[in-house]
Amino acid sequence: MNLSSFQQHYREKRPKSAAFFEQAQMLIAGGVNGNLRYYQPFPITFAQARDAWLYDLDGHAYVDYLLSYGALLLGHGHPVVQKAIQQVWEQQGTSSFGATHPLELEMAQELAGLYPSFEEVRFTNSGLEATLFALRLAMAYTGKTHIAKFEGHYHGAHDHVLVSVNPTFDRFGDQTSPASVPESLGTPDYYLQHTVVLPFNDWDACEKIMTEKKDQLAAVIVEPMQSGYIPADRQFMKNLRQLTDNLGIILIFDEVKTGFRVSLGGAQDYYGVTPDLSALGKVVGGGFPIGVVGGKRRLLEMCSPLRSRNRQEVVFHSGTFNGNPISLAAGLATIRYLQEPGRFASLVQRTHQLRDGIHELARQYRVPVKTMGVGTIFNVLTTEAEVRNYRDLGANRHELRLALDYLLMDHGVYSKPLNRFSLSDAHGPAEIQATLDAFEKSFAALGQHVTA
Ligand SMILES: Cc1ncc(COP(=O)(O)O)c(C=O)c1O
Repeated sequence: MNLSSFQQHYREKRPKSAAFFEQAQMLIAGGVNGNLRYYQPFPITFAQARDAWLYDLDGHAYVDYLLSYGALLLGHGHPVVQKAIQQVWEQQGTSSFGATHPLELEMAQELAGLYPSFEEVRFTNSGLEATLFALRLAMAYTGKTHIAKFEGHYHGAHDHVLVSVNPTFDRFGDQTSPASVPESLGTPDYYLQHTVVLPFNDWDACEKIMTEKKDQLAAVIVEPMQSGYIPADRQFMKNLRQLTDNLGIILIFDEVKTGFRVSLGGAQDYYGVTPDLSALGKVVGGGFPIGVVGGKRRLLEMCSPLRSRNRQEVVFHSGTFNGNPISLAAGLATIRYLQEPGRFASLVQRTHQLRDGIHELARQYRVPVKTMGVGTIFNVLTTEAEVRNYRDLGANRHELRLALDYLLMDHGVYSKPLNRFSLSDAHGPAEIQATLDAFEKSFAALGQHVTA
C-alpha cells in the first residue's frame, strides 16, 4: 500500500502544524520532546484540549484516544482535578514542599486500599524512576546483579530495561532464548550483559531460562499486559509467580499502563496474583507527573533511613519533586472519583461498545481489523492471526494500520499513528458515535485499498 497519498493529504490539511514543526526543529532536537511522538510526515501541533477532545493549530478537532499516553483517565481538565489543585494552592499555598506533608499519607492509604500488595510505598516523578527504583530495591535485597525482562515490554527510558523493546527480526535471536538488543545508541554493554530477555507467554522457555540463571537474577519485571493490551495467559502468570517465589527472584509488576485502567486495582487484581513490587505511574498522578513503587515491607524497608546510620547499608532514593502536593491531590481526586458507584464499570462498558462497533464495521467493510485489550485500553490490530507476544505482532499489516490512522485523523480521531487507544470518563455516547462514524468512513476508503 502506498502511503504517500495519505501523507500528502495530511500535509495539505495542516499547513500551520507543518510550519510549526519546521520552526521547532531549529531549537528542539527533531522537533519533539520524546522520540515516540514523531511520525511521518510531521506530528500535529496541538493548541488546546478539553474533556475528550484535542484541537490543533489548523483548527481541526479530534476525539483523543492518546490521552497523554493513557494518563488522563478523566479526560482533559476534569473539574474534580481542577478543584483539587486549586485547593492545594489555597490551603497548602505551594506546589512543592520538598518535605513531608499529609497528602503523602492520604495517597499511601488510598493506594493500599486498592492495591493490597502495597505494604509500603515511595513516590517518584515518573514511571521510569519507579521501575528503576524497584529494580534497585530488588538487587539490593537479593544481592544479585542481573534482571530479566520480556521481549517487547517497555519499562521507561533507563539503561537496564531499554533492551529488546522493539528489536528488529535480524537481531532478536531465537524465539525461545531471545537476544538482548539495545533500544538506544549509547547503551553500555554492561546492561546488555546484565539484562536477560524472556519470551512472553512461552512458559517452557521462560522456566528454562530463569532456572538456569536463578543465581544471577535479582528480579523479573513484567508488563502484565504487554503494551497495555496483550494479556499474559492466566496460567503463565500463576507459573511466573510460583517459580519466582521458588527461585528467590523478586517479581515486579510494571503497572504504569495497566494500573487503574484494566481494573481499578490494576492487573494484579485482574489476575489475582500478588507481586513483590509494583510500579505505578500515569493515571495515579491525575494528569501530573508521578510514579509509585509499592510492595512488600521487607523490600521497601531497604530504603528506609531508619534501617541503618551507615549509608552503605541503605538503598538511596530521593527526588526534588517526589510526593509533591499537586500530583498527589490531582491523583487522589481522580482515584476517588473513579471509585464512585458505577463509574469505572460504565467506562469499561463504553470501551466495549466502541470495540464491538469497530468489529461490526470491519466485518461489514471487509477490512482485516480487530481490537485487543482489557478494561479501558485496547489496540487496533491489522491481522487475523492470534497475538500473544512481540513476535506475533510481525503478522500485523503495518502499512494498513498506518493508512487507517491517517484516515482516522482526517475524520477527527487521534490516537497517534500506531498507538493503542485509551478511553476516559469524558468519552461519552457522542464521542463514541463520532469515533464509529470516523471508523466507518475510514473503512469505506480503506476497503478499496485492501482489495486492490
Ligand atoms: C509500562 C510502562 N512502564 C514505564 C513507563 C515509563 O513511564 P514514564 O513515561 O512516566 O517515565 C511507561 C511509559 O509509557 C510504561 O508504559
